[in-house]
Amino acid sequence: MQTQVAIIGGGPSGLLLSQILHLRGISSIVLEQKSRNYVLGRIRAGVLEQGLVDMVRAAGVGERMDKEGHPHSGFDIAFHGQRKRIDLEGLSGGKTVMVYGQTELTLDLYEARDQMGGHIVHEAENVTPCELETDRPYVTYEKGGNIYRIDCDFIAGCDGFHGVSRQSIPKSVLREYEKVYPFGWLGVLSKTPPVSSELIYNHNDRGFALCSMRNANLSRYYIQCSMNERVENWSDEQFWEELKKRLPEQAAQEIVTGPSIEKSIAPLRSFVAEPLSYGRLFLAGDAGHIVPPTGAKGLNLAASDIYYLSEALIDHYKKKSDQGLKDYSEKALKRIWKAMRFSWWMTTLLHKFPQNSEFDNRMQETELDYLFSSEAAQKALAENYVGLPY
Ligand code: APR
Ligand code: PHB
Repeated sequence: MQTQVAIIGGGPSGLLLSQILHLRGISSIVLEQKSRNYVLGRIRAGVLEQGLVDMVRAAGVGERMDKEGHPHSGFDIAFHGQRKRIDLEGLSGGKTVMVYGQTELTLDLYEARDQMGGHIVHEAENVTPCELETDRPYVTYEKGGNIYRIDCDFIAGCDGFHGVSRQSIPKSVLREYEKVYPFGWLGVLSKTPPVSSELIYNHNDRGFALCSMRNANLSRYYIQCSMNERVENWSDEQFWEELKKRLPEQAAQEIVTGPSIEKSIAPLRSFVAEPLSYGRLFLAGDAGHIVPPTGAKGLNLAASDIYYLSEALIDHYKKKSDQGLKDYSEKALKRIWKAMRFSWWMTTLLHKFPQNSEFDNRMQETELDYLFSSEAAQKALAENYVGLPY
């Protein structure tokens, strides 16, 4: 087979790239290791920055997001009995975020690709990017016992943290930066009305907790748990009981509980690979970096990568300019590192760190106290939360 851009990975990064390129007359084939049902069964975060919302609309996939998504103009932080609203809109000069599940966005992207005749191969095994240093790269994969080859101009590595793309960059070229946090998040999705109309990030001596939502009858809650916690050890009752202990009194009293429809544990990690390009291979999204979920930057960072990468590919094909491709890694990384800083800061601010000294704990409390009392500090939080400009 032949295409202009071979895209490895059919998560939001790969699908969004394929959709944007298609609208500009650039062909692509998406190779996804898993089945569509598997990809659409993963529950991920659901807070979209304005930049991503604009991209989704421009890519012609914003209709359901605009109907079913909820713009949020603020969120709460609770700590030691106080509850402070961060007025995102007021503090950021009018910007808001959109609460819309990543899983829903992925479904919308699949549907749009199908309608436009997009070529997506599911259950593609042993995907291998080849001849990256040449201008005739190709990708091979296996399916149903046959081996296939796709000749292309470029390869987009959108295959997430465990994908093959990053591993195809020689060790001598690739630098990796990593921080693993000593805890995870236990998350529950339940068909219950959210406890609050906006998100609540809770700092508590028992550990962090987050109240989030998908819609008026679908709530998403998380509690910080130990790293080696197992989901089987948490009944729904135990989860709700622990969550309530970490919420402000009023929220704990008002929360509506019910059976979980999904329950999972996610580790917390910050990770960056540099550079994000090697010859004709370009990494985007989780393939190149991971943020802890505090602040919901994962999907939004994937989107800014796709913004830079799609612009660069469009310039290559439409303007015969390769400057964007040359600059892609550096440009994307600048924004990535800033989101790394922000999600690390927010994680550090809100979680209970088992190894912390008393001094560390006082610093954390003082940081929260300062945030609650300083508009300048709240502005910095809001600016980052709504998303730095592309
Ligand atoms: N070959 C083909 N596909 C692969 C391979 C491989 N070797 N390895 C992984 N994949 C697929 C995965 O099955 C997954 O569907 O690549 C896709 C990558 O999707 P995501 O992990 O969702 O990553 P990305 O599209 O970059 O989206 C980033 O997702 O993980 C969250 O927090 C993250 O919200 C962020 C967003
Ligand atoms: C979520 O709704 O899943 C969510 C929201 C905000 C976060 C992380 C996750 O910071």
